[in-house]
Amino acid sequence: MKALVIYDTLYGNTEQIAQTIGSAFSPLKEVEVVRVNKLNPKQLTGLKLLIIGSPTHGGRPTPVMQSFLKQLPDSILKGVNVSAFDTRLTARWVAIFGYAAGRIAETLKKKGGNLIASPEGFFVKGKKGPLKDGELERAASWVKTKFIS
Ligand SMILES: Cc1cc2nc3c(=O)[nH]c(=O)nc-3n(C[C@H](O)[C@H](O)[C@H](O)COP(=O)(O)O)c2cc1C
Repeated sequence: MKALVIYDTLYGNTEQIAQTIGSAFSPLKEVEVVRVNKLNPKQLTGLKLLIIGSPTHGGRPTPVMQSFLKQLPDSILKGVNVSAFDTRLTARWVAIFGYAAGRIAETLKKKGGNLIASPEGFFVKGKKGPLKDGELERAASWVKTKFIS
């Protein structure tokens, strides 16, 4: 199975989650983890599973991630299992803006992807982080419970 994790990050927290997700697959699955601005379009071919993650900025993915998602050709993810994650603040008031992961998942479905796990959010303690205690472990167990059977 070829799996790909694409992420964006400003302060490094989402990158840590993405790398942890990648590591949780190995050695069982062939997986690559790549930052969205370093992606080679060839990496999107022959995929079985695509997971995309972004920090939440104003309730949405980062502008770079939004542009990437927007330019993906229609139906490019036909036959590909997909899911999404974000990093987000714990403060309750930010919920009014929504979160990045759900929006990423909606786009991946529109591009033909088969959503196999609900979008997931991982918490940071402040705008620049760090991640809340236990979030890396939760990311690893998200993989083991939702994607590895
Ligand atoms: C411009 C900006 C807007 C943000 N908006 C939100 C938001 O709407 N909701 C939220 O939960 N966190 C928000 N945050 C906090 C981010 O969730 C946090 O910076 C991110 O999880 C850190 O991930 P990173 O280290 O990968 O950049 C915002 C951060 C920035 C810089």
